[in-house]
Amino acid sequence: MANVGVVGVQWGDEGKGKVIDFLSSFADIIVRFQGGANAGHTIVIGDKKVILHLIPSGILREDTYCVIGNGVVLDPEVLQKEIEELKGLGYLKDDKRLMISGCTHVIMPYHKKLDALKESKAAKKIGTTGRGIGPAYEDRVSRMGIRVIDLIDKKVFREKLKANLEMKNFLIRRYYKDEPLKMKDILKSYEPYRKLLKTHISDSVAFLHKAIAKKKKILFEGAQGTFLDIDHGTYPYVTSSNTISGNMTSGAGVPPSAVDYILGICKAYTTRVGEGPFPTELTGPEGELMRKIGDEFGATTGRPRRCGWFDAVLVRRAIKLNGLNGLSIMKLDVLDSFEKIRICTRYKIGNRFYDEPPMALGDFSRCEPQYEEMDGWNTPIKDVNRFDDLPENAKRYLGRIEELLGVPVDIVSTGPDRNSTIVLRNPFG
Ligand code: GDP
Ligand code: IMO
Ligand code: MG
Repeated sequence: MANVGVVGVQWGDEGKGKVIDFLSSFADIIVRFQGGANAGHTIVIGDKKVILHLIPSGILREDTYCVIGNGVVLDPEVLQKEIEELKGLGYLKDDKRLMISGCTHVIMPYHKKLDALKESKAAKKIGTTGRGIGPAYEDRVSRMGIRVIDLIDKKVFREKLKANLEMKNFLIRRYYKDEPLKMKDILKSYEPYRKLLKTHISDSVAFLHKAIAKKKKILFEGAQGTFLDIDHGTYPYVTSSNTISGNMTSGAGVPPSAVDYILGICKAYTTRVGEGPFPTELTGPEGELMRKIGDEFGATTGRPRRCGWFDAVLVRRAIKLNGLNGLSIMKLDVLDSFEKIRICTRYKIGNRFYDEPPMALGDFSRCEPQYEEMDGWNTPIKDVNRFDDLPENAKRYLGRIEELLGVPVDIVSTGPDRNSTIVLRNPFG
């Protein structure tokens, strides 16, 4: 396949970073198309661990180009830190390899402040990452956002900032009863970012279209997951962008025909960080055990992730929403020590059974998952990288997932390391 898109099919943290890093060895260009530094994508290479929030996970390969697309909301403070860290580790030797669309919206200090204030005042918290994501997307939609192209023009930036700050400070002072932000402080702290962004700004649409014409291989890197999607997730417990494959094209500036293959990244169980419904959540010792073995703590905020069984109702919906061609089943090794493994095949609400997730939040919270149970394998499979070396019950579990979902399992992951990967079908061919 020429171009491959990768999306999370649950509530994020499925292991997208690992798979993007793996697939990027077959790609020429890796593009982030939505989200911002709320993402935390982990890549493990031997004893090295890198967590990327903003820069595409393909940056660890020597000869790939990485693009931060127009659909992303970019925090320049995180960008600067991430670039410094990567350079310190010997990566990103050539600045030209990282391109940022001029149309990408910039996260400002008031976005982060408002994110925190809104959460602290809300009766029902979303449990956001506090990275200013929601407020930045609000400004984009209300046509008052500041884009990278605006920030690098001193005059335009000052004008836009002045107009924005007047409104934001009104909200901060009058509604939230908190300290307003000072224009001169923001101008001072954002001054160095002008130079940084000038180094990386590019007409990424023109670049990607040239690449498509030259038949270069492009990998689209999704952040978050399908049920954090602003339209299709468990609203309002979602993020503020479309996380599904449909947004790959508008968030990067390429036509739908530019994506040939979509791979869904999916844990062998389910996790969620932050608030919101989670039908298969295990609140007792089994959930604790999953969290402990799976080291389920957020890569961005360090919060413990809620854990539960595999939910085929959700993943089936994700297959439809994203048009998945294949799945990558992650963290199969985390289930090694479970005597019995459960898969949720449908929901019960009241006296009725449902094959599709409900639309109303209240119904979602009342769902009773209906399980089928399978025998576990009780054998360590960590780092196995040949399908034939998996125990029979692990193969049976994967087979049952395929059967229930009707989509092939292309990749199986058995450990955090790059090499702990079983490739049954490479999406790049
Ligand atoms: P992302 O946001 O989808 O990129 O996922 P995160 O990086 O937030 O979380 C996934 C976590 O699982 C990271 O700590 C990975 O190193 C780890 N991981 C990925 N694949 C595997 C696997 O197959 N087994 C185990 N045990 N850990 C894995
Ligand atoms: P990656 O790319 C898991 C969750 C937050 C919160 C909700 C809204 O690493 O999979 P936001 O800060 O976006 O306004 O928070 O979305 N969330 C994630 N959960 N993985 C992520 O990204 C997430 N990005 C946001 O916890 O519930
Ligand atoms: Mg993550």
